[in-house]
Amino acid sequence: MKLNIALLPGDGIGPEVTQQAVKVLDAIAEKHQHTFKYTKALVGAAAIDETGDPLPEETLKICSKADAILFGAIGDPKYDNNPNIKIRPEQGLLQLRLKLGLYANIRPVITYDSLIHKSNLKEEVVNGVDIVIFRELTGGIYFGEKKLSEDGLTAYDTCSYSVEEIDRITHLAFNAAKIRRKKLTLVDKSNVLETSKLWRNRVIEIGKKHPSVELNFLYAENAAKQLILKPTQFDVILTENMIGDILSDEASVISGSIGLLASASVGKHTALFEPIHGSFPRAKGKNIANPLAAILSAALLLEHFELFEEAESIRAAVEKSIELNITTPDLNSTNHFSTTNVGTFISDFILDDENTFYNKDNIDLGQSTII
Ligand code: IPM
Ligand code: MN
Repeated sequence: MKLNIALLPGDGIGPEVTQQAVKVLDAIAEKHQHTFKYTKALVGAAAIDETGDPLPEETLKICSKADAILFGAIGDPKYDNNPNIKIRPEQGLLQLRLKLGLYANIRPVITYDSLIHKSNLKEEVVNGVDIVIFRELTGGIYFGEKKLSEDGLTAYDTCSYSVEEIDRITHLAFNAAKIRRKKLTLVDKSNVLETSKLWRNRVIEIGKKHPSVELNFLYAENAAKQLILKPTQFDVILTENMIGDILSDEASVISGSIGLLASASVGKHTALFEPIHGSFPRAKGKNIANPLAAILSAALLLEHFELFEEAESIRAAVEKSIELNITTPDLNSTNHFSTTNVGTFISDFILDDENTFYNKDNIDLGQSTII
């Protein structure tokens, strides 16, 4: 298969982790005779620095023409302490989602056997978790009318949803539930919010067409609690934009590190694949950031084009790296492997067959990982 991939490394650790995802995609291309071409484009703080615009026209053009987008991270601390700044790096990502109509953000959350003992939660709580969060991505309070009053003393953000916006992601979530464990939980605040009432009514209506899927409802605060108390009760979680943002960060605790969670944003135009972690500015340039979420986002990209075997081989290699403790400091406090070493191990593992022996000392030295 030939794929033109728009590469948007963005800010902070974004360039370092996307570089490892590309390394892994190149290994897949070599092994399975695919051709992946990359076109780099600016976004976020990096784009503001060069062009004054967090989403330059050129970037949007490259993304619109591409088959898929591989995204790094966005955000820079120089914007964080000044809430009055007009142009922010995050606008680059938000506008990209909006302009490409990427209304569904799909975030899988699983546990890895070899990481379970490192979790902040009890082993019996996180064992066997397999959740996928469907977060609405182009509506709600993120994109509603917002304003600060002239005197600077009042502000508002409007949360609005149309039936069309609710229905299209709800269909995707039900279809996913059908081929999984057939359970869908809608998370909302329908005891308070009008938009949530509309969500609930529509989801009940659409649920009637999917009788094989068990439909449940939780208020957001209870869902936040249940995610930590008994995460195994969830299969597919469907929710609106801001609740989804918060719950998916919370859910990353279950996996052991936010450096593990990948996501796919799909909708009308070119699909985008990105780690859910941010730009982690303190780690920038230190070669310590966890590349697994970016690498797993590349696996989601391949899956989007029905390259299931290829995606699976990335996942197997990632699991192997975790099992052998070839991981970055967030997962491994004693034996540090660098971002590039982890990426090299995974790409080498993909290129070589599974019976090969691995020499950890060589990986430490940054040499070939395989003996
Ligand atoms: C995410 C991020 C973004 C969001 C930011 C960078 C605007 O946190 O993708 O979850 O809030 O959606
Ligand atoms: Mn977020």
